[in-house]
Amino acid sequence: MSGTAVNLGLLRDYIEYGHAADSFLDDVLEGLSQTQKKLSSKYFYDERGSKLFDDICELPEYYPTRTETGLLRTYAAEFAELIGANASVVEFGSGSSTKVRILLDALESPAAYIPVDISREHLLESSKSLASAYPDLPVVPIAADYTRPFHLPDILGEATRVGFFPGSTIGNFSRDAAVEFLRTAASDLGADNGLLIGVDLRKDVGVLHAAYNDVAGITAAFNINVLRRVNRELGGNFDLDAFTHDARWVADQSRIEMHLVSERDQEVWVDGKCFVFAAGESIHTEDSHKYGIEEFHTLAAKAGWCSIRHWTDTEDLFSLHYLRVA
Ligand code: AVJ
Repeated sequence: MSGTAVNLGLLRDYIEYGHAADSFLDDVLEGLSQTQKKLSSKYFYDERGSKLFDDICELPEYYPTRTETGLLRTYAAEFAELIGANASVVEFGSGSSTKVRILLDALESPAAYIPVDISREHLLESSKSLASAYPDLPVVPIAADYTRPFHLPDILGEATRVGFFPGSTIGNFSRDAAVEFLRTAASDLGADNGLLIGVDLRKDVGVLHAAYNDVAGITAAFNINVLRRVNRELGGNFDLDAFTHDARWVADQSRIEMHLVSERDQEVWVDGKCFVFAAGESIHTEDSHKYGIEEFHTLAAKAGWCSIRHWTDTEDLFSLHYLRVA
């Protein structure tokens, strides 16, 4: 653990778990060596990728962000009542820390905000702006891969902890990994604590397809950006113009898959290793699973969570769930 002091509101030294970045090279080499080449979607979020993702959230076709934000606004008082006073809010994958403001505004004297994100620069920038907007709220950023267990600091005056995991980021995980994440979150947060989680719902394929193949091409740029990152950080030589964004609905897995399709036969080098692509061969870069309400409750129960209440919009596009450690 290490930290850099920033004197801004009650922004605390950040806590870093060193395992966050260490495995990027290993993961890339391993992923590109498989029959179906793969890159983990967690590597999308470098500085540029995080900005592109923020742009995605503003797209007319990308319904999740505005639908979930609407739900958060509409039901904020209900969450606050379920969560109670003096809770510290732990956000998994906090990104720009935008949505959490709605929750913080509704809560009765929140004890602290603890954003956890793999992208350290983005985390610190977002934490600064949050700390200056909430000068009385202790902000304790944690730079970590939140899929791995980490230790939460004890917060002065904290009565309970509530996890916040919006955006249907849980959809990036396989069903098994989602159960694993929820189990880890339950033990990170501790007994009797809650989790407010956003889960995207299964719906009309046309709506889904449009959301991941936007007309402006932002999702395509977001997808391709991971190759730019491999080039820059790992000395790769991907030709960014020789791969095409592809997002497809895979019905039997109930998920959108994003791929980068090689336009021609080519060789790519990363860290002295050569990877051969045939024309039409793809790198699988993301899964975005879509759930039914009951299906999600069953999954959460497997991980030791009890479903207390859930909320959906009138079009049944998106759901929010409040879970408690059983
Ligand atoms: C942040 C994982 C929820 O799956 O919809 C958006 C990421 N990928 N467009 C999603 C994403 C393509 C997003 N999550």
